[in-house]
Amino acid sequence: MNKKQTIFSAIQPSGELHIGNYLGALKNFVELQDKYNCFFFIADYHSITGDYNPKEKSKQIFDLALDFLAAGLDPKKCTIAVQSQIPEHTELAWIFNTITPISELQRMTQFKDKSQNQDKNINMGLFDYPVLMAADILMYKTDAVPVGQDQFQHIELTRKIARFFNNKFGKTFPEPKDIITETPKIMSLIDPTKKMSKSHGVKSCIGINDEPEVIKKKIKKAVSTTEYNKDIYDFYATLLENFGSEKNKKYFDEQFKNKDIKFSELKDALAEDIANYFAPFREKRKELEKNPEEVKKILNEGAERARKIARETMKEVKEKVGLVL
Ligand code: ADP
Ligand code: TRP
Repeated sequence: MNKKQTIFSAIQPSGELHIGNYLGALKNFVELQDKYNCFFFIADYHSITGDYNPKEKSKQIFDLALDFLAAGLDPKKCTIAVQSQIPEHTELAWIFNTITPISELQRMTQFKDKSQNQDKNINMGLFDYPVLMAADILMYKTDAVPVGQDQFQHIELTRKIARFFNNKFGKTFPEPKDIITETPKIMSLIDPTKKMSKSHGVKSCIGINDEPEVIKKKIKKAVSTTEYNKDIYDFYATLLENFGSEKNKKYFDEQFKNKDIKFSELKDALAEDIANYFAPFREKRKELEKNPEEVKKILNEGAERARKIARETMKEVKEKVGLVL
């Protein structure tokens, strides 16, 4: 009998999710849960390596849990948990620290980028972040990790860490593959040469939980031109393709082909399409929000399930490393 493959991925709780995060990550998670043995985590320990306000953190963790559930992750089909609730992750990260050459971490482009963005807070956690990520992934003997391109280097390092460990202590961990999420990069509303990102501010992003009026307002202020401009049309066409009705996509493609594109009309239609696309999500999220105890229960049960496996992995690891008396 074929055993189901194990999938692990995580998102940091560091602010509202935007439609780029949704297409690049969450939407795929929902599709994967039907076929694989899935673990979807809220990477809170990773998120405290950046600049943050401690008063906001627990709400961000809770909000991300709401997003996971409202988007369709089903605790009956997959394990949803908060990283810091499974202390074995940091234990395994410490052991991996002892076999990871510093030179490997110095090569990480995300560390270099983030160090520039937070130059007053280049902390050890930021440097060690890929090792904790390797611990997250390998803890569950994961076969594959669905991530965006920005994480490939970290998955490559995870494979190396698995190899270093297996060579030194005996075969323990599989080398996980990355699953490239085949989604177009969603670009910023105000500068379509940059990707839509929290770090470029709320005006550049459409939040998946934005109310219809907010979506309309943001799209109204988004890039525009009175001229025939393929780059700008492509930016909107990607959004129409992913969130719009087929009818609208065809209609505006035709307008564009005839060099008769009316961006104001397109924007109104697109805002409505995006608002409609996420209407069931907003509704479900509001329901869940009224019931925080239920959400916490789901997270506790997820952590319990994860911990069982994590304990077993740590037992095996500690024996192999020579820490068991
Ligand atoms: P942000 O840049 O907004 O901080 P993150 O770096 O936290 O987003 O990314 C979280 C996930 O969302 C990753 O899997 C990433 O690949 C995906 N993602 C982020 N921005 C986009 C985008 N503009 N288009 C497509 N996917 C994206
Ligand atoms: N570092 C990832 C990000 O910023 C989040 C993350 C933490 C992760 N642990 C993970 C992703 C394990 C995949 C697998 O997006």
